[in-house]
Amino acid sequence: MSNKIIDNVYSVGVVDKDVRMFHGYFTPIGTTYNSYLVIDEKITLVDFVKAAFADEFLQNLEEVLQGRMIDYIVCNHVEPDHSGALPKVMEKYPQAMVYGTANCAKGLKAYYPDAKYDFTTVKLGDVLNTGKYNFKFIPMPMVHWPDSMSTYLEEEELLFSNDAFGQHTGTGELLDTENGLEKLIDRSADYFANILLPFCGQILKLLDQISGLKLRIVCPSHGVIITKYIPEILQKYVSWCNNETEEKRVLIVYDTMWGTTRKLAEKLNREYSEKGFDVEVINLTEHHYSDAMSRALEAKYIFVGSPTLNNNMLPSVSAFLIYLKGLRPKKRIGKAFGAYGWSGESISQINEILISCGFEMEEPLKVLWNI
Ligand code: FEO
Repeated sequence: MSNKIIDNVYSVGVVDKDVRMFHGYFTPIGTTYNSYLVIDEKITLVDFVKAAFADEFLQNLEEVLQGRMIDYIVCNHVEPDHSGALPKVMEKYPQAMVYGTANCAKGLKAYYPDAKYDFTTVKLGDVLNTGKYNFKFIPMPMVHWPDSMSTYLEEEELLFSNDAFGQHTGTGELLDTENGLEKLIDRSADYFANILLPFCGQILKLLDQISGLKLRIVCPSHGVIITKYIPEILQKYVSWCNNETEEKRVLIVYDTMWGTTRKLAEKLNREYSEKGFDVEVINLTEHHYSDAMSRALEAKYIFVGSPTLNNNMLPSVSAFLIYLKGLRPKKRIGKAFGAYGWSGESISQINEILISCGFEMEEPLKVLWNI
């Protein structure tokens, strides 16, 4: 289905309500692969969708095009959730010129070696004129891949921001106004924590680059289009990029074998709550590790617990820590805790990983058998 956003600009992407795993990130309400069609003297498509949705995507395009052809395609990002439909689109619209960064050109060639298309490489400051509209290209390397780019439609004060400012929201809502600011911030925070957190430096650079632009509409490549709450989201992005956290918020993440590590988690919860901290406890048997990561975004204290199993921590805790380390939260205070029966390696292993994340560490809490 296509939707008109404003005169001449249409949303032609697809809803993937069933996807539950997005490279390690649990997506309980699915996502969307957004794509946009801009009608001018020349017609421009901004981004493709995932390959599995190519046929539905072609139908959406045709709803708006009504037999007209696409002249230009802006490929803001080569990751297959945004480029997968390229082969089928190019078969139907072979005359369309594809625009993207030099890294995009390399990526597309690697992913779609048999597809036939003409490609124009763009860099910062380059402009594509389509008649009354000018598309200004703003490469944003590592937001989220080296090829990533956003594109500014100057005359409409509209930013096609690709992965930046996205949310994994597969509910079919089109605009931020449909569910209010709180939900938008919650979903944006989940997405930022699980996708964008390692790239804070590059995102700050992007925020600086777009700070001088008039922004009326932000069209990301996932989730709802942002119209009303642009200042609030920009402000949150600055805060998240600077790793600003709630000074009195504690996140306790753990798994347990026979209940003693759970008791330790409860003990830490009581102690820190009594000291006036806002404490949240997440058990990794009951919650996916990416849920824990979402909750870690604004927590100053991150405590991690596991009993020792076969000289190691539990696999669920190990998975969380590998994920956490890759996402590189900074300026945090950590603590390792856990129960053991004889060897007790899990606690020092957790401690070492949290140190390697750059965390300032509290004394570990280690208990033999039971408390
Ligand atoms: Fe939504 Fe980096 O792809």
